[in-house]
Amino acid sequence: MPHDTGMLDVMASYEAVSIRVGSTPCVPMRGSMLSEALEPVNPFHEGAAGKYFVGRDDQLKRFTRALTALRKAEPAHLYVAGVNGRGKTSCLEKLVEMARESDILAVRVALDGGVRAQQQILAMFEKLLRKVDEIHKEMAGAPRLIAEWKQSSGSPFHLPGSGRLQNDHLLQDLTHVRDVIAELGFRHLVLCIDEGERIEPYALSALKNALLELKEYLVVLSVRLAEDHGDPVRAGKLKLEEIAAAADRDLGAARLFVGGVGLGSFTAEQARYCITRRLEDNAIRFDDAVIDLIVRVAEGLPDRIISYAHQVYDRTEAAETDIATVEIFRQTFVALHKLELDEANALSAQSTSSDRRTLRELARHDVPLTPLDLARKLYADASADVLEPVADALRGVLDRVGDTFCVSTDGRYLVPDPVRRYALEISMEPE
Ligand SMILES: Nc1ncnc2c1ncn2[C@@H]1O[C@H](COP(=O)(O)OP(=O)(O)OP(=O)(O)O)[C@@H](O)[C@H]1O
Ligand SMILES: [Mg+2]
Repeated sequence: MPHDTGMLDVMASYEAVSIRVGSTPCVPMRGSMLSEALEPVNPFHEGAAGKYFVGRDDQLKRFTRALTALRKAEPAHLYVAGVNGRGKTSCLEKLVEMARESDILAVRVALDGGVRAQQQILAMFEKLLRKVDEIHKEMAGAPRLIAEWKQSSGSPFHLPGSGRLQNDHLLQDLTHVRDVIAELGFRHLVLCIDEGERIEPYALSALKNALLELKEYLVVLSVRLAEDHGDPVRAGKLKLEEIAAAADRDLGAARLFVGGVGLGSFTAEQARYCITRRLEDNAIRFDDAVIDLIVRVAEGLPDRIISYAHQVYDRTEAAETDIATVEIFRQTFVALHKLELDEANALSAQSTSSDRRTLRELARHDVPLTPLDLARKLYADASADVLEPVADALRGVLDRVGDTFCVSTDGRYLVPDPVRRYALEISMEPE
């Protein structure tokens, strides 16, 4: 890889393009970025995290290992699995950035659903060629591959001419792309396929057949899971096996992916940083208590954190203040969760003040508690012989609440839903 100044320019424009692909910031940037460094622009947007990427250390280590293996021509293809909003697109973008930092050409493409396998392969291939062309234009002065691809005769490519998807065509065409990027100084290519759960069985099968022959490519495929069953890696593998089975039971197509990277919730620390990182150069700040509340109500889930923070930010801006307070968080919460609050208020209206105190204490904890645990928290100074009968009374209160709010397992009580938990906490406040 040459390292003259020209190349640095190319890498800079390559970076700009890579970060833009597929990300749809909902807040447009106004004016020049420098003069607006402290302007209130809502940094909590849908779409990939980009420069605000935080956490996912283990997943990034896997990516680093995969890039190292690729450099030794031992690609270990991966999938990234998680339900809706856990950060798959953000991770793929991060991988594109990491690859670029290692002078590896990287492309992220999102698959369209509801199209035939051949169309999917062609669409993916065209996006790959367009990306290579952007770099070709920067380095060699003109784009090349798309024009070659569309040539009516004498094209070095095979895919567009084929009536049906033929494995060797994909292999031959990816080989040609490999040779062209080698002329530009790139020896390896990372292909990140987003929305990979949409891959048509025969497209997956064709991709596998080509990749088995190509040691210069690493494919990382994202798999959106329908439900959160706890182990995204296993669920992702099952999904890939299901797709592969539909391609004449070509289970090798699923086994191509030697490893899976699972995405769940952030740790509390990462979740906090997910918020503070976006506010670092911003004119608006969030009270620590607000950050804690968002993390709590969102249960550390990236998309929910961003969604609450986005709305808290907008309200703070609308209130013409530069600090998001607990009061502003509450207004946001009330606007979003009217149903849960109405239910909690109805329960509060039927409760005595001492019941309300008990329920409020229960709602402050996200782990199951026995009535005795609760009694200890409510009456910290009471002696053991007093706590026992108190705990019995508390058990009666908890059993009457009903399982919309409170579930009991093995004598321990919990408000499982974090939204209802906070709704209960605020509705049970002393008047
Ligand atoms: N590691 C991260 N650091 C900071 N923000 C993140 C991170 N991961 C995800 N987010 C934020 O969470 C939200 C959802 O992320 P993303 O779009 O990457 O998820 P996804 O799994 O691709 O979602 P979908 O299933 O809808 O495609 C976005 O607002 C994104 O910016
Ligand atoms: Mg996504």
